Amino acid sequence: MDPTLCYLISKRFIILLCLYTFFFTSILSSTHPLCHENESSALLQFKQSLEIKEPTSKIASWKLGGDNTDCCQWEGVDCDENSGHVIGLDLSNSNLYGSINSSSTLFQLVHLQSLNLAINDFNSSEIPARIGQLSRLTYLNLSSSTFSGNVPSEISQLAHLCSLDLSNTYDYPSPSRNSLKLGTDFTLENLVRDLTKLEYLHLGFVDISSTVPQVMSNLSSLKSIVLIDCGLSGEFPISIFHLTDLRNLRLDFNENLNGHLPEFQLNSPLEIIYVAVTNFSGKLPTSIGNLSSLTSFNTWHCKFFGSIPAQLGNLKHLIKLLLYGNHFSGRVPSSVRNLTKLRVLNLGSNQLTGPLPPQILNLSELTELYLAYNNFQGSIPSSIVDLYNLELLDLSHNEFSGTLQFEIFSKFKNLTNLVLSNNKLSLLINETIPNVAFPKFQQLGLNSCNLNSLPYFLRDQDKLEWLGLKDNKIAGRFPYWMWNCSEETLNIIDISDNSLIGFDQLPVLLPWTSLTYFDFSNNLLQGSIPIPQSLTVHYDISNNSLTGEISPLICNMSSLQVLDLSDNSFGGSIPHCLFNFSSSLKVMNLKSNNLQGCIPQSWTKVNNLMVINLSQNKLQALPSLKILILRSNEFHGPVYSSETNNRGFPQLVIIDLSFNSFIGEFPSKLFQDWTKRKNDSADHLTYMHVPAISFINYYRWDIEYNFTITMTNKGMQTIYQKVREDFIAIDISSNKFEGEIPNSIGHLRGLNLLNLSNNMFVGSIPPSLGSLAKLESLDMSQNKLFGQIPQELAQLTFLEFFNVSCNNLSGHIPQGKQFNTFDNNSFLGNLELCGNPLLKKCGNFDNSPHLLSPSEEDQGSFELISWIIILMGYGCGLVIGFAIGLRVITGKSYWFIKIVAIGQRILRQVSRRGSRK
Ligand SMILES: *[C@@H]1O[C@H](CO)[C@@H](O)[C@H](O)[C@H]1NC(C)=O
Ligand SMILES: *[C@@H]1O[C@H](CO)[C@@H](O)[C@H](O)[C@H]1NC(C)=O
Ligand SMILES: *[C@@H]1O[C@H](CO)[C@@H](O)[C@H](O)[C@H]1NC(C)=O
Ligand SMILES: *[C@@H]1O[C@H](CO)[C@@H](O)[C@H](O)[C@H]1NC(C)=O
Ligand SMILES: *[C@@H]1O[C@H](CO)[C@@H](O)[C@H](O)[C@H]1NC(C)=O
Ligand SMILES: *[C@@H]1O[C@H](CO)[C@@H](O)[C@H](O)[C@H]1NC(C)=O
Ligand SMILES: *[C@@H]1O[C@H](CO)[C@@H](O)[C@H](O)[C@H]1NC(C)=O
Repeated sequence: MDPTLCYLISKRFIILLCLYTFFFTSILSSTHPLCHENESSALLQFKQSLEIKEPTSKIASWKLGGDNTDCCQWEGVDCDENSGHVIGLDLSNSNLYGSINSSSTLFQLVHLQSLNLAINDFNSSEIPARIGQLSRLTYLNLSSSTFSGNVPSEISQLAHLCSLDLSNTYDYPSPSRNSLKLGTDFTLENLVRDLTKLEYLHLGFVDISSTVPQVMSNLSSLKSIVLIDCGLSGEFPISIFHLTDLRNLRLDFNENLNGHLPEFQLNSPLEIIYVAVTNFSGKLPTSIGNLSSLTSFNTWHCKFFGSIPAQLGNLKHLIKLLLYGNHFSGRVPSSVRNLTKLRVLNLGSNQLTGPLPPQILNLSELTELYLAYNNFQGSIPSSIVDLYNLELLDLSHNEFSGTLQFEIFSKFKNLTNLVLSNNKLSLLINETIPNVAFPKFQQLGLNSCNLNSLPYFLRDQDKLEWLGLKDNKIAGRFPYWMWNCSEETLNIIDISDNSLIGFDQLPVLLPWTSLTYFDFSNNLLQGSIPIPQSLTVHYDISNNSLTGEISPLICNMSSLQVLDLSDNSFGGSIPHCLFNFSSSLKVMNLKSNNLQGCIPQSWTKVNNLMVINLSQNKLQALPSLKILILRSNEFHGPVYSSETNNRGFPQLVIIDLSFNSFIGEFPSKLFQDWTKRKNDSADHLTYMHVPAISFINYYRWDIEYNFTITMTNKGMQTIYQKVREDFIAIDISSNKFEGEIPNSIGHLRGLNLLNLSNNMFVGSIPPSLGSLAKLESLDMSQNKLFGQIPQELAQLTFLEFFNVSCNNLSGHIPQGKQFNTFDNNSFLGNLELCGNPLLKKCGNFDNSPHLLSPSEEDQGSFELISWIIILMGYGCGLVIGFAIGLRVITGKSYWFIKIVAIGQRILRQVSRRGSRK
C-alpha cells in the first residue's frame, strides 16, 4: 500500500476497523488496552478549558467513571488499536467556545495523527506555535473555527501532513470566521516547500497576499487546492494544472491573479475548476475537451474571449457551467447537446449571438438557465417547456422578439425565477383561460414586455419577492387585489414607466410587510401619497401627478435611504419629521412640487433667524455626502461657518448653490477638505452612485442609483445622466456673494468647473487660479472684478470655456494656448480690456501685473470647519426644492464589477447554492 496513504482516504478503512473492534470488544470484553490515563486527563482538561454552547455537543459526554472510563470510547476520539494512544480527535462542529493557547493540554496528545477542530469558536485565538509538536499529524482541520493572526511557521514541522484546512467553510451559517494570514516570515512558498506530502491544501480566505509559488507544482500528491479570496497576485503557474492527481482547483476571488488555461492533457482527473473573479484571460483551449471528469467549470467575471469551443461537448459529466461576465462571442456550439447532465448553464453577460440554441432545449436536467445580457435573437420557442426541471430562467437583456404566450409557463412546476425583461418581446397573457395555474414565482421580471395591464394571475401569487413590471404600457388604476399579492414576501416592486393613473382603495399603509424597494415613478398617478411600511429603503414616486400633503406617516419608513417625491404636485408643508429623519437617509429629492408653509418652529431660532442646521442635523450625519445641490431656490442669507464643529464634508465634490439669494463672502469653508483629498487618478472612468440596497438574489438584478444632475457648464445648462467620480465642481452663480475671490481657491486642485458668475465679487482675479490644472470651465462674468486678467491663466491647458464679461477688468488679455480659442463674448463689457480677440488694441499700459492683488488669504481659512446655512427672517411661504437627482439605471452595470464586495456576496451565494446540489 502507498505509504503516504492519507488518513482521510483510510477513513473508511478505520471505520471498518472500529466496527470490527467494537464487535469483538463487545463479545470478548475489551482485549485492547484502555486509553492512557495521561491522555484521558489531557482530554478532560482540554474540555474544561472550553465552554460548550450546546449540551448535545460530542464533547459533552466525555467524563470519567461508570462505563466511560475508556476515553477511546468517547465520541470523536480515536485510539491506536495496539498502543491505545489517542491518534484521532474529531471535534468538528461541536459548539466549542473559548481561547486556546500553547499551554492547552491538547498538545500533550503527541500521538495525534488527525485533528479536526473545524466549525467551532476559538475566540480569535492565534493558532498556538506548539501545534508543531504534534509531529505525527497527517490531517489538520481548523476551518471556520475563528482563529486569527499569523499562521505559525511551526506548521511546516508537520512533515507528514497530507491535509491542511484553514479555510472558512462558508456553507456554514454561523459567523464563525477565521481571519488568518501568512506573514512575511512564513509564506505560502515556505509552506509548500516543507509540506511536500500535501494532498489537500485548503487556505480559502486566509490572507496570503503573495504570488503563487512555482514550487507548488512540485507537490505531486496534491488532489485539492482551495485558495479562494487569498489576495493572490502575479501569474498563476500553469504547471499546477498538470498535477497528475489534481481534482479540485478553486482560485475564485483573487482579483489580481493573472492566468491562462493550459493545453489540458488527456485523462486529466480535474473535476472542479473555479477561477471566478480573477484576472484569468485568453481563449478556452480546445483541449478543454480532454477534461473528461470535469463536473464544474466556473469563470465568472474573468477576461476570457473568443468562441466557446465545440469540444466542450465532450465533457459529459459536466453539471455546472458558468461562463458569466466574459467576452465570449459567436454562437453557442451545437455540441452542448451532449452535456446531458448539465444542471446549471450560465452564459450571461457575454457577446453571444444567434437564436436560443435549440440543443439547449434537450438538456432536460437543467434547473438554471441564465442567458441574460447577450445578443441572442429570434423567438423564444414554446418547446422551452421541455426544460421542465427549470427553477430559474433568465433570458433578459437580449434581442429576443416576437410574441410569447405566457400560458406556457404554467407547465413548469418548480420555476421560481423567471426574467424576460428588456427584449423585444410581446408577452401575451390571456386572462380568459380558466384554471391556468402558474408556478409560485419568487422573482418575476417582465420589464419592457409590452404588457397592457397588470396580469391577473398575480392575484394568486403569494411567494413573490421581486416583481419587475417597469416600462410596459400598463394603464388604468392599480387594482385593489394587488394589495394582497404576496403580502408577506414582496420585497421589491418596480412598476415605473407605465401609465397607471391611480390607486384603487389605497390603504393607509401599504400591506406589504417585507417591502424594501418601491418604485412607481414616471406614471400618471393622481391622488394622495401611498405609504409603505417601515422596512422600505428606497421609495420613488417621482414624476407623477400626486397631490395633497405629504403625510407624516412617511416617516414610518424608518430605514429609508432614498426618498424621491420630485415632480409631483404635493402641497402643504414638509412634515416636520422629515427634518429629524433617521441617519440612514442618503437622498432626499423634493424638487418641483408646490411645497409651502412654515419651517418647523422646533428648529433652533437664533437671533430671529430661521436656521436650517444642515451640519448638525442632517449633513453632519452624512460624512460621505458627495453632491449638494440647492440650485434655484429661495435660500438666502450667508453661508455661514460654525466653528464649534469640525467634521465638514470630506467627500463633497459638487456643490451647486446657484440661483439663490445667498449673501456673504466666498464660502471657503465648504471646500476646506478638498485640499487634503488624495488625488486618485483612476485608470478608468467611474461614476457616482448610491449603493443603497443590497442585492436580493444570487444573480444580478441591476438595482443601483446614479446621480443625474443639471449644472451650468461651459455656459450651457447641462444634464449629466451620470456624474464622473472625479468630477469636481463649484457653482455658486447668481447669488449675492460679495468680497474678494480668495487666493486660496488655487488650493482646490482637481477642480473641473468653477462658476462664480452673477454675484457681487470685487477685487482682482486671483493668479492662483492658474494652478487649477484640470479646470475646464471658468465663469466669473457679471461681477465687479477689476485689475488685469492674470497671465497665469494662460497655463490652463484644459480650459474650454472662459467668461469674464461684464466686470471692470482692464489691461492686456493673456495670449496664447487656450486663450486663442476664446471669442470676444468672453471679454465683453470690460471697458478697459484690450488685445485679441477684442477690437481694442492695447496702448502703453502699466504692465505690472495684478495691480490690486487680493490680500493673500491665509490657508488657515481652509482649516476652518463646518458650516450651516442660515435663512434670514422667514415666517411662512418658503419653497424648498432639493434637487439631488436620482435614477434607477437598468442595463449593464459597471458597478456590478466594481463593487467587489457586493459581487462577492452574490457569487458566494452562487457557489453556496451550487454546493448543496
Ligand atoms: C475571548 O477573548 C477575549 C479577548 O482576548 C478575552 O478577554 C476573553 O476572556 C476570551 N473569552 C474566553 C471564553 O476565552
Ligand atoms: C474540514 O472540516 C469541515 C467541517 O467538517 C469539512 O467541511 C471540510 O471538508 C474539512 N476539510 C478537509 C480538507 O477535509
Ligand atoms: C521542483 O521540481 C523541479 C523539477 O522536478 C526540481 O528541479 C526543483 O528542484 C524542485 N524544487 C524544489 C524546491 O523541490
Ligand atoms: C457528442 O456526442 C456524440 C454521440 O455521443 C458524439 O459522436 C460527438 O462526437 C459528441 N460531440 C462532441 C463535440 O463531443
Ligand atoms: C432533442 O431530443 C429530441 C427527442 O428526444 C430529439 O428528437 C431531437 O433530435 C433532439 N434534438 C437535438 C438537437 O439533439
Ligand atoms: C420539483 O421540485 C421537487 C422538490 O425539489 C422535486 O421533487 C420535483 O421532482 C421537481 N419537479 C420537477 C418537475 O422538476
Ligand atoms: C408609525 O410609526 C409610529 C412609531 O413607530 C407608530 O407609533 C405608529 O403607529 C405608526 N403608524 C402606523 C399607521 O402604523
